Amino acid sequence: MDPNLGEWLNLVVRWTHVITGIAWIGSSFYFNWQDSHLHPPEAAREGIEGELWMVHGGSFYRAEKFGVAPATLPKTLHWFVWEATYTWVTGVLLLFLVYYLGAKIYMVDPGVSDIGPGAAVAIGIGVIAVGWFVYDLLWRSPIGRTPVLGAAIMFVLVTAVAYGLSQVISARAAYIHVGAMLGTIMVVNVWVHIIPSQRQVVAATRDGTEPDVARARAASLRSLHNNYMTLPVVFIMISSHYPATYGHPQGWLILAALSVAGMAVRHTFNLRNKGRAALGYWISGAAVAGMIALVYASAPQFESDTVDTDEPVAFVTVKAVIDLRCVPCHSAKPRHEDFDKPPEGVAFDTPQQIKTLAQRIFARAVVSETMPLGDETGMTQEERDLLGVWVRQGAPLE
Ligand code: HEC
Repeated sequence: MDPNLGEWLNLVVRWTHVITGIAWIGSSFYFNWQDSHLHPPEAAREGIEGELWMVHGGSFYRAEKFGVAPATLPKTLHWFVWEATYTWVTGVLLLFLVYYLGAKIYMVDPGVSDIGPGAAVAIGIGVIAVGWFVYDLLWRSPIGRTPVLGAAIMFVLVTAVAYGLSQVISARAAYIHVGAMLGTIMVVNVWVHIIPSQRQVVAATRDGTEPDVARARAASLRSLHNNYMTLPVVFIMISSHYPATYGHPQGWLILAALSVAGMAVRHTFNLRNKGRAALGYWISGAAVAGMIALVYASAPQFESDTVDTDEPVAFVTVKAVIDLRCVPCHSAKPRHEDFDKPPEGVAFDTPQQIKTLAQRIFARAVVSETMPLGDETGMTQEERDLLGVWVRQGAPLE
């Protein structure tokens, strides 16, 4: 695709994706918040379990929650399904635009495995599709009756998927596919469990029959799963900006650790909503301590096996490596067909540009090895070590 058209399409789809995602997660957070702030009405009213007064934008609002479905339903009843659906549709479009159309640079990494772009895309789509069925079967099975056990098994399975993907496709694609798999599970939960159960309750109310309690209970468990998956999924969606996470040699473990932190924070809110705030704060405190430990535990290690660290590395050698491996993309006029301007505005045409970005070069090409993108230009270990030693020596231009 024409790079300029590609960039605009990417912008429009991503913009829509973020907005629909905010609408979806925002309304879900809002209902959670409402549920935890309802109080029994001051003057008791038939069927009303709790009420909530709010002021927003200069107007007053009163929300009422019915203990069971009201005796008669109004003509218009609002559903919350399109936010999730559009978030998913735009997410899939974005996955195609960035990762599948650009599979050669975004999906594969010869430093990870030598599968081709087609196989990588097939694996990615397969994981997203199969993920839902495995998840759904797990929770329909007897294990589903013990939520804590089910959640533990889920966590192990998702971590295994992250590990497995990280052994075959690029680190960045591995992360995004775990996110896409979880996001798909959340949306299909809405389509297959949550909305149909609500429809059944509405129909039962209209016909004056008994609602299907077992089904409603199953749906509310799925809703709770979505609630806990939200924070990890949002992290994964922004993870491509943080090569220190996905680009770490044990990136899958970092993903698992950050997911635990995200779920712990979510749990704190849920506990607070149940009036057990103190326990929640301990849990979040532990999550924060864990994240601080993670920052240190995951600090990049650099050891040069191929280049003598005591010998000064000449800049001409560094420049030759960068010209060969980076400049095809990172130049004011890139030679690479997928780019018509330097990615992220990063160009290595002059010695000064290279020196200014020495620390980023170190982060991307030496420790996380997330550059060259998809290792398109086939960088060798010796070249990475060379850049690393040069940066450690203070990135001299002499
Ligand atoms: C095939 C094209 C391509 C090649 C070759 C390439 N890059 Fe990149 N680079 C990109 C793209 C696309 C981005 C933006 C996406 C991203 O940050 O992952 C990027 C972003 C960057 C950034 C800015 C983001 C940040 O983390 O600071 C740096 C620095 C960088 N590359 C360094 C390098 C170095 C060093 C090399 C050579 C060893 C290199 N790149 C080779 C495509 C390439």
